[in-house]
Amino acid sequence: MRNRSADLVIVANRLPVDRVTDDDGTPSWRPSPGGLVSALEPVMRANDGAWIGWPGGTETGMRPFTSDGLSLVPESLSAEEIEEHYEGFSNGTLWPLYHDLVAKPEFHREWWDAYVRVNQRFADRAAKIASHGATVWVQDYQMQLVPQMLRDKRPDLRIGFYLHIPFPPAELFQQLPWRREILQGLLGADLVGFQLPGAAQNFIRLVRQRVGHKTHRDLVYLPDGRTVKAAAFPISIDVDGFEELAASESVAERASEIREALGNPDTVFLGIDRLDYTKGIYARLRAFSELVRDKHLAVGEAVFVQVATPSRERVEQYRILRDDIDRLVGRINGDLGEIGKPVISYLHSSYPRHEMAALYRAADVMVVTPFRDGMNLVAKEYVACRLEEDGALVLSEFAGAADELRQAWLVNPYDINGMKAALRQAHDAEPKEIQRRMRAMRRTVRERDVNHWADGFLSELAATRPDHGKKVRPVGRPEEDD
Ligand code: G6P
Repeated sequence: MRNRSADLVIVANRLPVDRVTDDDGTPSWRPSPGGLVSALEPVMRANDGAWIGWPGGTETGMRPFTSDGLSLVPESLSAEEIEEHYEGFSNGTLWPLYHDLVAKPEFHREWWDAYVRVNQRFADRAAKIASHGATVWVQDYQMQLVPQMLRDKRPDLRIGFYLHIPFPPAELFQQLPWRREILQGLLGADLVGFQLPGAAQNFIRLVRQRVGHKTHRDLVYLPDGRTVKAAAFPISIDVDGFEELAASESVAERASEIREALGNPDTVFLGIDRLDYTKGIYARLRAFSELVRDKHLAVGEAVFVQVATPSRERVEQYRILRDDIDRLVGRINGDLGEIGKPVISYLHSSYPRHEMAALYRAADVMVVTPFRDGMNLVAKEYVACRLEEDGALVLSEFAGAADELRQAWLVNPYDINGMKAALRQAHDAEPKEIQRRMRAMRRTVRERDVNHWADGFLSELAATRPDHGKKVRPVGRPEEDD
């Protein structure tokens, strides 16, 4: 990548592809986990932008390269930075703090120092490759200091920041010893985007209280005359892509194969999550197993397929969770299963989109029960794949998606009995009722796809300083939108 050549630069902790070493020692690339990557890919394709991120692993000195038409700029992390910036401050401090303290955050000064160092390096790299007046779009909690660091070096840039996870209320955020620095880092952006309006309000209130800037509604007035806007842009998925996949013959065939392999049960329940303690996997499996134990659901007639994608495996709390779930699944199947008829079919693995679409097609009840989740794109993917307007969605009130998918069976994941009742209702619902709900949710998801999200954010960003900077192309296909 030549210096100062990109008109759109994405700065994220991860590249959209992850470098892995196969068993025989050969390196290869695979798509990175999580919703961030799948949401941003279409924006990049429409704009010929450059994406700065960590390629996974500790290899240093990798040169910029193109992968599947995307311009990627690897920024390596040392083993110590992986431990302190990524596993430490990002995922041992910020992740649990921003997710309602579902786990206890740890505060370590050396983790913070590494976070500052890594943010600075990513900011420096963006400053080098962004063209004059370019748009730089910084992503997520691992990079919150980048906006101000970048502005210090390149005031000509238009800078946006988007947080993919929840932003906590002041009562929680103020535990953070570096709360002021984080807020100031974010204020380097022209536009700070969140999943939900409540998160934007939390931010504005904190800026007023902790930094002392004047605010009015969604605007922050800085002493140098600049204004920063904070607003909600609920993220979404590539609906057309998922619909097309779900409609394909190979996915339909694979979906029937899956049902057959499960012994053709009447009802397939499905959970698909990164193996993360915020996702509520343990509680949901307990709720389901109690329904089987109490004979509300019969072994063989109902089965729960739980896919758990490996995630952050060196972080202690994730290891504990993995062991807990392994034990729980073993116990449930040991106590309640019959030969050839497990109660829970548990897969600790990640799957390509094709297989995910087949699973969505094969499932009668999708169960998404996080304790706290910025959005949860799995819920939207399920809805997009239900072309026949059938299939029930059980969804946590504490997932951002619940704001839009009001017709799901909404549950409080802390309330196991409430969850059991919702699972039963979804299982017993009349086809007409299921269709009424799914039809409404499909309408919502189709109206607000990922292009709507990206265009909404980027046009709002352009409007913050209309006299300034270059234009970024919208992601949608204008000929169809007209
Ligand atoms: C969530 C976060 C992303 C993150 C992804 C995968 O979606 O919002 O920033 O990349 O999880 O987690 P990982 O730690 O593997 O990058």
